[in-house]
Amino acid sequence: MLNADLEAMAEQVAELILESKRIVVFTGAGISTESGIPDFRGKDGIWTKMDPEDFTIQRFIARPEVRKMQWKMLAEGGLVKDVKPNAAHYAIAELEKLGRLDCIVTQNIDNLHQLAGNSPGIVFELHGNMQFVRCLGCHRRWPMAEILARLAVEELPVCEHCRGILKPDAVFFGESLPQAVLSEAARRAAQSDLCIVIGSTLVVYPAAQIPVYACDAGAKLVIINIGATPMDSKAAVRIEGKAGETMTAVINYVKKKMSKGSY
Ligand code: APR
Repeated sequence: MLNADLEAMAEQVAELILESKRIVVFTGAGISTESGIPDFRGKDGIWTKMDPEDFTIQRFIARPEVRKMQWKMLAEGGLVKDVKPNAAHYAIAELEKLGRLDCIVTQNIDNLHQLAGNSPGIVFELHGNMQFVRCLGCHRRWPMAEILARLAVEELPVCEHCRGILKPDAVFFGESLPQAVLSEAARRAAQSDLCIVIGSTLVVYPAAQIPVYACDAGAKLVIINIGATPMDSKAAVRIEGKAGETMTAVINYVKKKMSKGSY
């Protein structure tokens, strides 16, 4: 249960949702921490324990020991093993069911929006996802599960076809983002009238440019995050709160107001 201030702000967000026609939800790692996946820069985030330099494409290609460390982390269920959506993901899936969502632009690679029930066609994954592994030599792709199974006997799997380096299909630092996904996400943001940011520090570009495109186009901005972001001053509503309970309150207000026929 939220405190009175947070309840009032959740109701304000619900009103903004019901007054808007083209809503873009922008998510970061903070929406998935309640599913057990650590974020990067929050309290106990991944970058407080690991060196982000080890996740640059340059170091991944140059150093076999870095590749071994990453495959070992994945084999131990670091990021992908049976994680489940949480209340925040389900609230956003309900927004789509209620016809109140244009798209989701996510920096996350965990596939949890799709698992919560959002249509894959409206989930724009700017940083790829961990469901697949790609060969950097011949560009063939395999389901992540197939390569994880090989890790039981191989420390450093290589491509069966060309012996090339295998890499999870997520975007590493130093790699460009999938251009078509980025352009469509930017186009949608520039046509939106409401952008809701959930669980992101908004410090990694070009992803963090998406809410800026929305604001520049005149969209209203909502930020739901634990911790400050550089865009807080532009937010019509800024909620310092947990994604799960906040989005649950928001979607309950949306449904309550719709049932009263007030929207
Ligand atoms: N509810 C609300 N906010 C939360 C929650 C929660 N349950 N848990 C964490 N947060 C907040 C954190 O306090 C932090 O401010 O979510 C934010 C997550 O920020 P980051 O860890 O920086 O994640 P993100 O913004 O997605 O990072 C962008 O950086 O390392 C790269 O590629 C990686 O996609 C990632 C990108």
